[in-house]
Amino acid sequence: MKVANRLNMLPPYLFSELEAKAAGIRAQGIDLIDLGIADPDLKPPQFLLDAVISHLDDPDAHQYPTSRGDPGVRRAIARWFNSRFGVSLDPEREIVVVLGGKGGLSNLARAFVDPGDEVGVPEPGYPVYGGAGAALNEAYLRPLILDSNSGFLPNLKDAIGTKILFLNYPNNPTGAIAPESFYEETAYFAESHPETLVAWDAAYSELTFDGIKTPSILQFTQKAVEIHSLSKMMNCTGFRIGFAAGNAAALDALVRVKTQVDSGAPVFIQRAMANALGHYEGKIPPPECRISHSEYGKRKDLLEKGLQQVKGIERVYSSPATFFVWAAVEDDLAFVEKAMNKGVIFTPGRGFGLPGMGFIRASVTTPMDKIEEAISRISD
Ligand SMILES: Cc1ncc(COP(=O)(O)O)c(C=O)c1O
Repeated sequence: MKVANRLNMLPPYLFSELEAKAAGIRAQGIDLIDLGIADPDLKPPQFLLDAVISHLDDPDAHQYPTSRGDPGVRRAIARWFNSRFGVSLDPEREIVVVLGGKGGLSNLARAFVDPGDEVGVPEPGYPVYGGAGAALNEAYLRPLILDSNSGFLPNLKDAIGTKILFLNYPNNPTGAIAPESFYEETAYFAESHPETLVAWDAAYSELTFDGIKTPSILQFTQKAVEIHSLSKMMNCTGFRIGFAAGNAAALDALVRVKTQVDSGAPVFIQRAMANALGHYEGKIPPPECRISHSEYGKRKDLLEKGLQQVKGIERVYSSPATFFVWAAVEDDLAFVEKAMNKGVIFTPGRGFGLPGMGFIRASVTTPMDKIEEAISRISD
C-alpha cells in the first residue's frame, strides 16, 4: 500500500514522537511531570457539563446536525460576539459552527488552497497551519518569522501573494498578544490584498491575565475569518467544539467543505456551547471560568519565575496570555532530552517550525505543586 504523496509532505509530528519517548520512560517506572502538551487539567464549568446532559434529551439530539450549525446556536454565538467584542454578525451568513478550532482552520484551508499555492504560516507557530493548511493541500509553506525583537509579530509584507494567511494572537507558543496597531495593520492587509484570506486563530482569546482583554480582528475588517474554540476557554478540549465567524463568502466555502468531510458537531454539544456562552456577562467570563483562568495565571507566574532561575535557560519571555511560557536555551533538543531524563517534559521550540530552534515551550496545565517539583528536578 502506498499512501498519498501529500502525507509524506507532512513534517513528523514532533509531539507524537515526544509522547512515544515519554511512554518509554514511564514504562521504566519513572514518573514524568508533563509541561509539554497543553491540555487543560482543570474541570469544565459545571454549567457546561449540566448543559451537555440536559441537551442529550432534546428530541433531535441523536440526529445528524447541519454543516453550518444549529440556527439557535448561531444566534447565541452572534449575541456572545456582540457583547464580547461589540461586533454585530448575521447568524445566517457570518457564523459557522466547527469541530474545534482545528476543524475550522483545516477545513477553511481546504476550501481555499490549491496545490502549488503558498500558505502564510507564522513560525514558530501551531503546527496545523503548515500541516493541514499547507502540506495536506499540496501547497507551499511561506514562513512568517515571529521574533522577540519585533514582539513576536510578523512582517505582513512577507505574506504578500499567499492564498491564506494564518495569524494567532494570543499566541501559541510564545504567549504574545498583539497590540491594537497590529489588528489595524492586518485589517489594512486584508482589505488591500483580496487574493489572501486572513484566518485569525483566536483559540486563546479568553485566556488572558492581569485584566487584559484582546479584541477581535472583526472589529477592524470584515475581510477575515476568525476562529474561536471552547477548548481552552472552558477546559473542554475533548468536546471538539468551536465556531468560525466573519466573511460570509469565505464561510460559504467552509460549509461546502464541511458538507463533504463532517456532518457538523453533535447537536447537544453545540447547544451546550450556546448555553455556556450565555453565562458571560458582557465581556466578563462566568465566575467558574474566572477561577480556573486565575489558577492558570498563578501557575504561569510560578513557572516563569522558576524557569528564570534554572541553569541553561537564557531568557524567559513573560507574557499576559495563554498556557505557555516561551524561553530561550542554547540547544532546545539537548535541553528537552536532559529535562526528560530528570523527569520533566518540555516541548522543543523547533516543533513549532525551525525558527523555534533554541527555545522551549512549557505549559501550565499541571498543578502548582507539580510545577514546583518540576523546577526543583531540573534545578539539580
Ligand atoms: C493556536 C491553536 N489554535 C487552535 C488550536 C485547536 O484547538 P481545538 O481544535 O481544540 O479548538 C490549538 C490547540 O492547541 C492551538 O494551540
